[in-house]
Amino acid sequence: MKRTFMITILLCAVLQVFAQQKVIRLDTKDLSLIMTVTENNELLFQHFGNKITEDAPFIKKKSYRRADYGTDPQMYSTAGGRNFREPALRITHANGDLNTELIYIAHQQLTFKDKNVNQTVVKLKDKSNRLYVNLIFKTFQKENVITQNVEIKNEEDKEIVLHNYYSTYLPIKANGYYLNSFNGSWAREMFLEETKLTHGIKSIESKKNVRTTHTENPSFLLSLNAPLNENYGEVIAGALAWSGNYKLNFELDEFNVLNISAGINPYASQYHLKPHNIFFTPDMVLTYSNTGAGGASRNLHDWARNYQIYDPMTIRPTLLNSWEGAYFKFDEKTLTDMMDSAADMGLEMFVLDDGWFGNNYPRNGTSAGLGDWQVNKAKLPRGINYLANYAVKKGLKFGIWLEPEMVNPQSDIAKKHPDWIVKNRGGEATTMRQQWLLDLSNPQVQDFVFSVFDETMKLSPDISYIKWDANRHVEAPGSTFLSADKQSHFWIEYVRGLYKVYERIRQKYPKVIVQACSSGGGRVEYGALKYHQEIWTSDNTDVLSRVFIQYGTNLIYPALVSGSHVSAVPNHQTNLVTPLKFRFDMAMTGRLGMELQPKDMSTHDQEFAKMAIANYKQIRDIVMYGDLYRINSPYDGTGFYSLMYADKKKKRAVVFGFCINYQGRTLTPKFRLNGLDPNKNYRLKELNVTKSNFWGDEETFSGKYLINEGINPQLQKVFDSGVYSIEEIEDGKPSKNNEDPCDAEGK
Ligand code: GLA
Repeated sequence: MKRTFMITILLCAVLQVFAQQKVIRLDTKDLSLIMTVTENNELLFQHFGNKITEDAPFIKKKSYRRADYGTDPQMYSTAGGRNFREPALRITHANGDLNTELIYIAHQQLTFKDKNVNQTVVKLKDKSNRLYVNLIFKTFQKENVITQNVEIKNEEDKEIVLHNYYSTYLPIKANGYYLNSFNGSWAREMFLEETKLTHGIKSIESKKNVRTTHTENPSFLLSLNAPLNENYGEVIAGALAWSGNYKLNFELDEFNVLNISAGINPYASQYHLKPHNIFFTPDMVLTYSNTGAGGASRNLHDWARNYQIYDPMTIRPTLLNSWEGAYFKFDEKTLTDMMDSAADMGLEMFVLDDGWFGNNYPRNGTSAGLGDWQVNKAKLPRGINYLANYAVKKGLKFGIWLEPEMVNPQSDIAKKHPDWIVKNRGGEATTMRQQWLLDLSNPQVQDFVFSVFDETMKLSPDISYIKWDANRHVEAPGSTFLSADKQSHFWIEYVRGLYKVYERIRQKYPKVIVQACSSGGGRVEYGALKYHQEIWTSDNTDVLSRVFIQYGTNLIYPALVSGSHVSAVPNHQTNLVTPLKFRFDMAMTGRLGMELQPKDMSTHDQEFAKMAIANYKQIRDIVMYGDLYRINSPYDGTGFYSLMYADKKKKRAVVFGFCINYQGRTLTPKFRLNGLDPNKNYRLKELNVTKSNFWGDEETFSGKYLINEGINPQLQKVFDSGVYSIEEIEDGKPSKNNEDPCDAEGK
């Protein structure tokens, strides 16, 4: 599988040619990234887009820019020499030289045992200093994805200082650039914004280091020549796999070339690299689509499920989470009653959220106890094992909440280890949600965080799921572990420390599901997803907000990872009252869960929940592993949000439609079902209703009809919604092999 290819490299070809012009191409099934080496051994970018198979024109081709203006399209641009744009690499060399000019030495192309993946390493060296840079590209053939990271090796006599060390640099040329990026804040994450780029630099960045993805996300969809469209047009999409500070720059120059640099944020992060040491940048993930945003998302989703997300093939269980139903106020009975209801409704797991720990400083609110991970004896006298056992007897898995990177000042642990707290070296640590951050650059803290996880797992053999929270970010940075001259390493060493802990956890607990919660929406990025099976998309469970949050999230990250819960009304964050069916229909577009007090539900609502949960289990493999075809965007002004997931063989699909805004009773949606096979016949069945009022319910249609004419269910009033399952029909019957949950990935 995906990670084993790392150790099973098969050397296919090694190319090493000096001082002659050549073309280096990275091809996937449909794409090419092409670079050339000039006769002066400069490495220049040439093309990223649809596949081009000839090499010759790239040798002759004149640049879009005048070389004597110092603007050659370097494949990895540097500070110094003749470059005056934002450089991908900026170094102060051992001798004080501020210039770096990279020349090509050699390149190697390797194929992994998994034939779908090739690696190209382009080796570069500074003209005057013993500084070596390897550009490492991996091409994923059938996903049409290319990843890039960089190795920077210091062979100079003394330490060098890295200022900029981005993972990728792409100088691309089109007739206009429409940047689609994400903005928001806590409980309002991943709102999509399109900006037509004008000259100068537009940057997307985080300087928070923890919870980096509330206000922006290290990903983008860049539509070329025209605004972003779901089905048409050229789109370059990218995402950085890094859980710390990031910066993505889009610099439009006087030649109308757009220079994209993306990677770790240089902000306050000068890195001192000792002789013979190597600095590795994180992976930047890139794709290109000529079928609009839809194609770009599907490429990223396929790559993520096949190569990045932890444990992709484990079906994520449906669950009841205790937070919005009980908050900090519970005893054993509250929880066992919730488990009874969860089991009755057909859910598969119960997750005990915050509030189960702390004795000297009981965790009965956000002000105390965080960090003291001993079971609160007053609330839970029979401990966690009793509860986990109870769950298992009810046929449920059991999960539990942790926030191991942080502590309340009011806790035994904070009083015992003041030196573990992140703080301005001269002063006081700041609190946020009344808590302090632990300094994960410190190996002792790494041991502690690992032990919190480990000891919690030991509370019961029946724990299957950990909700890993992180409810603050870095302020007043400072580490008592790092020396005074290495304080600027803090941002990077924190993330490396986190990854070290994750590695240890994954070695010991390969199967436990670990959700990246991070206040909801705070760690939505591919660095964290290498270790987590899922993310908590937002603390905002309001369904109308979720339409936008999940639409945005799923532009880049697949539904497999997006936890999506039905909560009570009026919604605790927004006060909005919406029908239960609308809430269930929407939650079913991700990993379905519930987060409310079941005993406050009417019998009628509990019966509805039972039906919806049973229906979800029939279609969730398509949601988790299928291809996403968005139909109406919540931003398109129609008042409808609609989407379809289709399995890879186009035998089964599921369509979701929501009326999110009253447009007029005379208006009916038209959902064209792109993504089906025009040559198959399909039967539609409406789910989550006792009696459908859709004229096409249980009817058979040709794929051609559904693609070209589509369906028009009557969803006219605000919060009307519908779910339609679609199944291939052969000779009047459902076709064979329609039920295999792993079918979608061909595994
Ligand atoms: C964060 C999480 C919530 C909940 C609370 C508990 O806000 O995102 O889901 O777990 O913490 O304190």
